[in-house]
Amino acid sequence: MDFDRSIKIAPSILSADFADFGREIRAVEDQGADWVHVDVMDGHFVPNITFGPPAVAAFRKHVRTVMDVHLMIAPVDPYIDAFARAGADIITAHVEAGPHIHRTLQAIRGAGAKAGVALNPGTPAESVEHLLDLADLVCVMTVNPGFGGQKFIDMTDKVRRLHAMIGDRPVHIEIDGGVDPTTAPGLARAGADVLVAGSAVFRGGSVSNSAPYGENIAAIRAAAQAALG
Ligand code: DX5
Ligand code: ZN
Repeated sequence: MDFDRSIKIAPSILSADFADFGREIRAVEDQGADWVHVDVMDGHFVPNITFGPPAVAAFRKHVRTVMDVHLMIAPVDPYIDAFARAGADIITAHVEAGPHIHRTLQAIRGAGAKAGVALNPGTPAESVEHLLDLADLVCVMTVNPGFGGQKFIDMTDKVRRLHAMIGDRPVHIEIDGGVDPTTAPGLARAGADVLVAGSAVFRGGSVSNSAPYGENIAAIRAAAQAALG
């Protein structure tokens, strides 16, 4: 996984057919996905429940790109090794999930994965200021986590601040929630390079008709790239 700041589209399989993850993953990758985003929810940190390490290990067999695992769970530390063993390339934990995010990021790297740190909409950019040398990715939530298909919350100013704080460190800025061709341009201009999209990728398509996935991915990418000139 080499570092670069080119625009990457990461479809969230939260919007896929839950009875057909293997084919859904292959379909979005065949249709141009750069990464595959996996949303893990525990019914405690967020008001929804998705899947645990055995399911993520099963997804791994189908992912040929980068498996980007977003943990919306608290506590998070007891599960890091299990998600690393499940084959996560990137494990992202929330600043708000516990008192020791610094230790959590150390543990993620110690388990052999890239470390991501996510910020809820109400959490300031400055909360990760002292973590940037321990992080490979900062995820800016542009919805309150828990569900796909929610209305975009504008965090452009936060993205701009993070971009300045990161400077030339090799740290990705990822956006999660409400990303589509209308919201992507401002985010790319502010410095985001990884765009997670669930509903805006999966809408209109299916495993047996996956061309719309490709059109949707291409539309988000084109909108973001056009904004960069
Ligand atoms: C929200 C998840 C997101 C979600 C994005 O809690 O972290 O990854 O699936 O979905 P859309 O793109 O539909 O807002
Ligand atoms: Zn997510």
